[in-house]
Amino acid sequence: MHTNHNGHLPLMRTVSHERYGPARKLKFKEVGRPTCDPDEVLVAVRSVSVNPFDWHNMTGTPLPVRLSGGLRRPKASRLGVDVSGVVESVGENVSRFKSGDKVYGFADGCFAEYVCAKQSEMMKMPDTLSFDQAAAVPVAALTALQGLVNNAEVQANEHVLINGASGGVGTFAVQIAKALGAEVTGVCGPTNVDMVKDLGADHVIDYSNADFTRTQGTYDVILDNVGNKRMSQYKRCLTPEGRYVVVGGQKGFFLGPVAHMLKALLSFKFSKQQAKVFMATRTLKDIETFTEMLASGAIKPVIDRVYSFSEIREAIDHLETGRARGKIIVTVAE
Ligand SMILES: NC(=O)c1ccc[n+]([C@@H]2O[C@H](COP(=O)([O-])OP(=O)(O)OC[C@H]3O[C@@H](n4cnc5c(N)ncnc54)[C@H](OP(=O)(O)O)[C@@H]3O)[C@@H](O)[C@H]2O)c1
Repeated sequence: MHTNHNGHLPLMRTVSHERYGPARKLKFKEVGRPTCDPDEVLVAVRSVSVNPFDWHNMTGTPLPVRLSGGLRRPKASRLGVDVSGVVESVGENVSRFKSGDKVYGFADGCFAEYVCAKQSEMMKMPDTLSFDQAAAVPVAALTALQGLVNNAEVQANEHVLINGASGGVGTFAVQIAKALGAEVTGVCGPTNVDMVKDLGADHVIDYSNADFTRTQGTYDVILDNVGNKRMSQYKRCLTPEGRYVVVGGQKGFFLGPVAHMLKALLSFKFSKQQAKVFMATRTLKDIETFTEMLASGAIKPVIDRVYSFSEIREAIDHLETGRARGKIIVTVAE
């Protein structure tokens, strides 16, 4: 175990985020292990995954990120949300976990050897998963679940289109929509067509040779992870009472994906078709639901590549290309 200069506080390695900018500006630091609140657990981190959310916080874009996260410099010097690991110790109000439990879930600042996590945002890991697989799940599965169930209210036999079916959210969304009994069309690039079919999609559209909006009244639901079409195009291919759910949009400094969300809300305002815009929220009920789906085998994480902790900057650069095939993982400790 590392200790600090006076030999008392155990130290840990962490990724330090002191300025907005590209991944190469991130530094590794040795700092004291965090002290957790009474309703938190201290997790010895085994694996984390990277999300566009981390990239937005790292770069401070779009601008609304800085309104809450710090205008000139980030208020929080840590990054990372998706984590798996082993409970090291528990706060006095923690009843759901004990030290030694294998857990996964959401913990802000988890790009580090140890992190504090609220007990309400963690679950015991299903036995069937490795630490790398478990870290792939939280943000992406929660977003797909809340988009399809809470927002779109997908019913069995409805036709659901997933735009961006091969990325982190999309790979879970295809599987969850199938588990809900929907007919599923996935949209992805040419190299991912077979993978999306293997996940259970009934139809796959390769966006390099077909435009999914060139059809009339076909889809009951569009779950959109990409935001690359005009509102009139989404409306055309939806059924008369179809639902358009915006998960993500194109990057940009001022409003980025928020601009696409606002456009959706405005242009569907007087229509029987509906637009839904949401930010995934960490509710225990939903975390339990996707954990049950993992345990039963209804959904499986798709892992693009696993990086070591010292390669975390490369992992974020990989995500930034927009070509992630499922999730990108970083193993923090073996
Ligand atoms: N609202 C929320 O709470 C929430 C939560 C999580 C994420 N998000 C947002 O949702 C979006 C997706 O997140 P993610 O984690 O899935 O990102 P991701 O893993 O980085 O997405 C990469 C995927 O995007 C696909 N893609 C890129 N251009 C495409 C196009 N023109 N048509 C179809 N697919 C395309 C790529 O497919 P190919 O390589 O096959 O082209 C790749 O598989 C991001 O904008 C993110 O910020 C929102």
